[in-house]
Amino acid sequence: MPQPHLRTVVVLAAGEGKRMKSTLPKVLHPLLGRTLLGHVLSAAAPLAADRTVVVVGHGADQVRAHLTEVAPDATPVLQAEQLGTGHAVRIALEAVPDGAGTVVVINGDVPLLRPETVGALVTAHEQAAAAATVLAAEVPDPTGLGRIVRDADGRLEQIVEERDADATQRAIQEINAGIYAFDAVRLRDALGKLSTDNDQGEEYLTDVFGLLRSAGEPVAVHVADDHVETLGCNDRVELATLRRLLRDRVNEAWMRTGVSLLDPATTWIDVTVALDRDAVIDQNTQLRGSTVVGAGTLVGPDVTLVDTIVGPAASVVRSHAVGAEVGAGASVGPYAYLRPAARLADKAKVGTFVEVKNSEIGAGSKVPHLTYVGDATIGEQSNIGAASVFVNYDGVHKHRTVIGSHARTGADNMFVAPVEVGDGAYTAAGSVIVDDVPAGAMGVARARQRNIEGWVVKRRAGTAAAEAAKRARDVQGASNGAGAASDSEAMHGPAETVGGASGTGDTATE
Ligand code: UD1
Ligand code: MG
Repeated sequence: MPQPHLRTVVVLAAGEGKRMKSTLPKVLHPLLGRTLLGHVLSAAAPLAADRTVVVVGHGADQVRAHLTEVAPDATPVLQAEQLGTGHAVRIALEAVPDGAGTVVVINGDVPLLRPETVGALVTAHEQAAAAATVLAAEVPDPTGLGRIVRDADGRLEQIVEERDADATQRAIQEINAGIYAFDAVRLRDALGKLSTDNDQGEEYLTDVFGLLRSAGEPVAVHVADDHVETLGCNDRVELATLRRLLRDRVNEAWMRTGVSLLDPATTWIDVTVALDRDAVIDQNTQLRGSTVVGAGTLVGPDVTLVDTIVGPAASVVRSHAVGAEVGAGASVGPYAYLRPAARLADKAKVGTFVEVKNSEIGAGSKVPHLTYVGDATIGEQSNIGAASVFVNYDGVHKHRTVIGSHARTGADNMFVAPVEVGDGAYTAAGSVIVDDVPAGAMGVARARQRNIEGWVVKRRAGTAAAEAAKRARDVQGASNGAGAASDSEAMHGPAETVGGASGTGDTATE
C-alpha cells in the first residue's frame, strides 16, 4: 500500500541564544505582538501541515507553556543537549511516525519570514520532486552565516558554515537562511549519516545537502526575493533592527489599506491589531495585542492602546488604555487612563486626568476632569463633576456605584460604594455621598461654611493680607454707604439655592 504523503513542519527552538543575555529563552522574546517563535509558527500556518514539531531544549518548560497558548496542536520534542541542527531534526523525526512526504524545517529565530515565501519554497520543492531545497538569499553582510557553494553550472554543491569555510567560500554573499524543505524518506536516511567532523563538533543539518548531492540526489536552492525576511536574531541589537523592519512592513500595509499614519517612524502596531479605513494614527503611538481601531477614528499623538477596542469616529489623545472599549464618536483624553473593562458607550467622554476601571459610562455621558471611576455604572447623558472619586474599596472588598441617566453630580464628590444616584438626580459640590440619592433629588453631604468676620485683621495684624483686608473693608464700607448689595446678599448660586430648597437652613454666612 502506498504511504500517505504528509507534510511535517519542524521548528528548531532548543538553542539558548547566549548573546541575548537573558533569562528568557531567545525564541520567547517578543516582537510586535508575537514571540519570535510565534512569528515563525504563523508563517508556517498556511502550509496546513499534518503535524508540527517544535524542538525545545533551553527553557523547555517556558517554551512548552508558550506553545500551549499559541499553538496547542504543535508537539514539543525535547533535545536535552544541543548537539547541532542535524541532531535536532533527527530527534524531531524520531518523535513522529515514519512516512513519505515533505519535511519543512525552520530555524526558530527568523521572525520576518512571510508565509508566501515559505509557501513558495515548499511548492518549488514539491514540484521539482527535489530531495532537499534550501531557502537562500543574497545579503550585504554574510558574516556568521552558512554559505551556498555552487558548482560551475550554478547548482548547489554544499552549504559551508563560516567557521569551516576557506577564503573563497567566505567571499560568497549568498547565504543559507535556515529554512528548508526535504523529502522525508531521503532526509531520514541522510540524517543517519551525519558526521561531527567540523569546527563545532556538531551534527550540521546543512551537511545533508552535500551528502544527498554526492549520492546523486536532486538538491535545489530557492532564492528569497527579499533578504530581509531571512534575517536571524542573535542579540538585542539585531532584535531592535528586526522590530524596526517589521514596523515598517506593518505600517506600509496599513497605509495601503487606507489608514493614515502621520509619523510611521514613531508608530508601532502589533501584527495582531486591526485598523479600519480612514483611521488617523498620530505620532508616537503604540497599538498592541488585540486592539481594534474603527473607521475615521483619531488615535494619538502619544497614545498606547493594549487589547482595546475603539469604535468609529472616536478620538483618543495622549492616553493609555488596557483592555478597554471605546464607543463610536466617544472622546478620550488628553491624559486619560482606561484600565481593564472600562467601557465607554457611544459619544461618551473621558477627559483630562481621568482614570476609569471596570465601569460602564453610558451613551453621551461625560467624565471631563480629574476623576477616578472604579467599579461603576453610569447611565446615559449624565455629567460627573470635576475631581470626583468613586470610592470602591473598603480595604477588603470592592463595591459598585450606580449613577443613573441625566444625572448631574457636583464637583469634588466622593461616591462611597455601594451607593446609587438615581436618574435625573443632582449632588452638591464637595459632597461625600454615602447614602443613595433618589431619582430627581439633590444630594447634599458636606459641612456648612462658617465665616469669622475680621479674623485676619485681628489675628494676623501687620501682614500684607491684613492690610489688603483693611483696604477691601474700607472700599466696601464706602460702597455699602452708597446703597450697594450687602455682603450676604451678594452670595448666590447653587449652594444657597440647595440650602433653601431642601430646608437645611444653608445661608451664606453665619
Ligand atoms: C544555522 C545554519 C547556517 C545558517 C543560519 C541561518 C547550521 C549548521 N547552520 O547557523 O548555515 O546560515 O542557521 O540563521 O544549521 N538549534 C537547536 N538545537 C541545536 C542547535 C540549534 O534546536 O542543537 C536551533 C537554534 O535554537 C536555532 C536554530 O536551531 O533556532 C539555528 O541554530 P543556530 O545555532 O542559531 O545556527 P547558526 O549558527 O545560526
Ligand atoms: Mg542562528
